[in-house]
Amino acid sequence: MGSATAARALLTEVAGIEPVGTWSAPGRVNLIGEHTDYNDGFVLPFAIQQRTHVALGTRADGRIRVVSTFDGDAVEVDLAALDELFPANRGEVPEWAAYPLGVAWALLRRTGRSAVSVTGVDLAIASDVPIGAGLSSSAAIEGAVATTLNDAWGLGLDRVALAQVGRTAENEAVGAPTGIMDQMASMLGRADAAIFLDCRSLAASVVDLGFADAGLQLVVIDTGVKHSHATGGYGERRAACERGAEIMGVRALRDVSVDDLARAAELMDDVTFRRVRHIVTENQRVLDTVAVLRDHGPRAIGALLLASHASMRDDFEISVPELDTAVEAAMSAGAIGARMTGGGFGGAAIALVEHDRVQTVMDAAASAFAASGFAAPTMFTVVPSVGAGRDA
Ligand code: GLA
Repeated sequence: MGSATAARALLTEVAGIEPVGTWSAPGRVNLIGEHTDYNDGFVLPFAIQQRTHVALGTRADGRIRVVSTFDGDAVEVDLAALDELFPANRGEVPEWAAYPLGVAWALLRRTGRSAVSVTGVDLAIASDVPIGAGLSSSAAIEGAVATTLNDAWGLGLDRVALAQVGRTAENEAVGAPTGIMDQMASMLGRADAAIFLDCRSLAASVVDLGFADAGLQLVVIDTGVKHSHATGGYGERRAACERGAEIMGVRALRDVSVDDLARAAELMDDVTFRRVRHIVTENQRVLDTVAVLRDHGPRAIGALLLASHASMRDDFEISVPELDTAVEAAMSAGAIGARMTGGGFGGAAIALVEHDRVQTVMDAAASAFAASGFAAPTMFTVVPSVGAGRDA
């Protein structure tokens, strides 16, 4: 069963009614530009065909109930009680429910609407974005719920505002200190194109990828190593970047250029310097990738993808052996380029591959994982796809 059908069936099962409508939002792959978003830098993600669907029912009692196919129990609260729940008492609801409830809370806060001015809702959520794979299952939930409630409540927010609402939910309701990239990709995605985003101004432009025309496929190698950005490494990396910016006397590392790195090396400890160097060089790689895509097409970006991976492995230190193995195996099987994608510490790698080499690359990754004693990876191809919207 597709996840749209699953969401509709779940709503009927839980609320005993037919949905008023269904909405969906995609996961994303980040082609390049990792951990640059919260440094006010550049990113180049694209939305993928795997989506999260929401089926909506309305109710007259001012309550919000959320239910999903990834957790059997529905969670229900008064819309007027969301303010007590977030952020201080988020522990009172299961973590998955903090995403949709947090979006409702953030929407009301952003628009200044009172809980009594909007209708109560039942939201049934089903997703085919793999969870914890670094493909932004969380942004897909946020985008799908934000788009649903924006329509249901007649709020009239635009796509960028809905992305910001999703980020507020994730940062403050869930408590993960992430940037804006994933939500923007999920809201703004286009078929066969990536979104080139300046995370300071939020100016976004569509960059044609031309994978299909060039006979290329983008393979995802999901290592199965789970990560969470609400804990540990992600926040530590973010703190190191803020430390580096402070030492350099700039608002954010976006304001440090490759030419400034020699000075940075003299001003800070080695670990902080390497974190800074990753961000500064990665920003440049995003700009270079956009230029190379426009001038020479997707076959020419392999070296940039590989350099990005090496920088995350050696300088930012967010790769894991499974991700390095995936990248090495893909390259040795003839991929054009490969890198880990997403926040790191697990999740997935991507490989840009000739159409007729997809199986060879997948076989090579499977054998390399087996030889290293790693659990078998999950592998599939993704297609740059359209962003969030109403489906029915
Ligand atoms: C996660 C976060 C994003 C971004 C990436 C790393 O996906 O949600 O905001 O920081 O990690 O590029």
